[in-house]
Amino acid sequence: MGNKVSEFGKTSKGKIAHIYTLVNGKGMALEVTDYGATMVSILAPDAKGRSKDVLLGYDDVQDYEQGTCYFGAIIGRNGNRTKDAQVVIDGHVYQMEKNEGENNLHSGSEGYSNIIWDASVDEDGNSVSFHHVGADGEQGLPGTFDITVTYTLTMENEVKIHYEGISDKDTIANMTNHGYYNLAGHAAGKIEDHILWLDADAFTPVGQGMIPTGEILPVEGTPMDFRAAKSIGADIEADYEQLKIAGGYDHNFALDKKTKGVEKVAEVSESTSGRTMEVYTDLPGMQLYTGNFIVKEEGKEGAEYTKRNGVCFETQYFPNSINIPSFESCLLKAGDTFTSTTIYKFC
Ligand code: GLA
Repeated sequence: MGNKVSEFGKTSKGKIAHIYTLVNGKGMALEVTDYGATMVSILAPDAKGRSKDVLLGYDDVQDYEQGTCYFGAIIGRNGNRTKDAQVVIDGHVYQMEKNEGENNLHSGSEGYSNIIWDASVDEDGNSVSFHHVGADGEQGLPGTFDITVTYTLTMENEVKIHYEGISDKDTIANMTNHGYYNLAGHAAGKIEDHILWLDADAFTPVGQGMIPTGEILPVEGTPMDFRAAKSIGADIEADYEQLKIAGGYDHNFALDKKTKGVEKVAEVSESTSGRTMEVYTDLPGMQLYTGNFIVKEEGKEGAEYTKRNGVCFETQYFPNSINIPSFESCLLKAGDTFTSTTIYKFC
């Protein structure tokens, strides 16, 4: 299908990173690197069939090493914030890295966004798989964790991300992808005009350190309500404490899932390009993050990204669920297989 592999520069430790390009003959191309199993670009057609890169990212692997935004990366074993960087599993306290104040964010410096994964391409499936065996104690967590992340570019213009992992001890498996999308093009500026529909009746408000309080609050009557599509910017500056705390949207939504299977949970569109992206997942939650903390990043092709230049849809178990009994747990029992699928479909 014209898929290819090329070099993507050397990491600071002298390792050569690679880029794997998948194409589908329908105007779409996906580039992923083995560094962080990171999506580097998504070329997606507009209403007239013209393709543009709709994913924020960098030109070189060293920029990814230095970046603090997690552009396009795979996050694991444990996404989002963990209170006091501590987890209790089977009665033992495990200490993770405190990389955001007292808390852990996205598993810290040993997180999966910072490692080189082993890659293998499946030409027939139009996919690339990234494999990693995390040692017992990696990131402070128990269990040898054998994890594979597979990206597939389908003929239906879907980027499908499938996770499959197994551990020899009880551990945490809460993996996500941290892609930032701008459907007008990665260098097009603010995303506030994007129209968003979100299938979520409730969200998990945050308190100090942006850790969920444990409540699950209805979105009804608040700026968090995207059940009727509205622009991302419509209420983003509202005088609403949760938005003030995060400088915009940076919250986990409790998805209104009907089954445990993969369902459509969000749709985002941009009117000047006519591009629409649908999000499907089998997970119970999704972090809507509007790039509030992007200060000034030198991105691909000389682009400069600032606040709210991209929007993330990070499908996940609720943040800190391992420490909040009322949240569905992301505990992976020894010997069980963790699987999960998220799809970003371009229409
Ligand atoms: C997540 C968090 C945000 C921010 C980004 C990285 O999405 O929820 O608050 O930390 O990662 O910049």
